[in-house]
Amino acid sequence: MSARTTTGTSITGHGVWHPANVLENSELCAAFNEFVRRDNARNADAIAAGTHEPLKESTPEFVVKASGILRRYVEDKTGLVDPERMCPNIRDRPETELSIQAEYAVNAAKVALERAGRVGEEVDLVVLGCSNLQRLYPALAIEVQDAIGARGYAFDISLGCSAATGATQLASQAVRLGQAKCALVVVPELTTGHMNWRERDSHFIFGDASVALVVEPAATAKASSWEILSTQMASKWSATTIRNNRGYLDRCDPDTERDEVSKLFHQQGRRVFKEVVPMAEKFIKDHLAAHDLQPAQVTRYWLHQANQAMNELIAKRVLGRAATRSEAPIILDEFGNTASAGSLIAFSRHNEELAAGSYGMMASFGAGYSLGSLLLQRQ
Ligand code: COA
Repeated sequence: MSARTTTGTSITGHGVWHPANVLENSELCAAFNEFVRRDNARNADAIAAGTHEPLKESTPEFVVKASGILRRYVEDKTGLVDPERMCPNIRDRPETELSIQAEYAVNAAKVALERAGRVGEEVDLVVLGCSNLQRLYPALAIEVQDAIGARGYAFDISLGCSAATGATQLASQAVRLGQAKCALVVVPELTTGHMNWRERDSHFIFGDASVALVVEPAATAKASSWEILSTQMASKWSATTIRNNRGYLDRCDPDTERDEVSKLFHQQGRRVFKEVVPMAEKFIKDHLAAHDLQPAQVTRYWLHQANQAMNELIAKRVLGRAATRSEAPIILDEFGNTASAGSLIAFSRHNEELAAGSYGMMASFGAGYSLGSLLLQRQ
């Protein structure tokens, strides 16, 4: 590959949508700490007898120091600030109504299509990438396809926090192969449903948001689109570091509780940090080297948004010096970790002012492990 290699496809539109409710660290920790006090009171005898470990409280200061997250958008706050519930209240909808995740996708799609100057009827492929899918079938993407009046075909993909970069690569490949002319990527990350709000180590991590991209042939893309020069994916099995075991076989194991903690998001955060940083550094450097590009020639890195210190370290190791906020923007302070949507939201929020010819790289890393990157150039 040379610096001029291209997929011949471009991102012509992008859009972000999030629910209106904001959950501040202070509110989150107040509810968590009330849950802890009640749980410890319920287990007071066992704690006194030394047979039960008391739960420890959480602090907003720790959350900011450990993650950089200040607040997050959430679908429902009532269940999250209720110490007896500690789970969002999201009602099942009748099958004849638009599903909530499809609604998230449509909300972001409208913004992206408008920016691309397209309408739903012009879309001929919908790829829905998400770390959590609310049902097994029919594919959510087909519901989105119907809701926006799109033609062609649609499918869902699952790849943890690299689902969105993976979906974008598949959309780009379909356009490149001529299978689609106007592909829509939708990433409806309603993550608050998968979290264990009773676990001190991770109760602060995620937030809800949706992002969408429009991918079209570069030759006909409007000025200021982002040409996708090349894409890269990698995966490496890691059994215990980031995982959620919920699935359709849940009811089949006679010895497993429906709500047991392994059926919620769980991770070994420290280990993830240590293992992912060198993997992401090498992955990004390899992708740039394949184009004979030096890291400093890339004006902006839209990195996966899980942890601020992790992003700063990856960017520093790639560049050989600390990155500025302009080189590696952070959106997790406002959104929390939005799983696979993070790097695309960072892109959507922080690309408009870059000059024609600028290089940018979108890169994700997460459960699997899975990694994805797209090298872009402004048209
Ligand atoms: N409030 C107060 N203290 C807390 C706490 C909380 N909510 N949660 C943990 N602590 C304490 C721990 O008990 C520990 O105390 P100790 O040192 O006395 O044992 C200390 O704070 C450090 O805990 P640790 O879990 O090691 O914190 P950390 O600095 O590694 O940060 C993560 C935790 C999860 C934020 C961080 O490791 C991370 O983001 N890793 C990457 C995860 C990732 O990218 N995942 C991808 C998901 S898509």
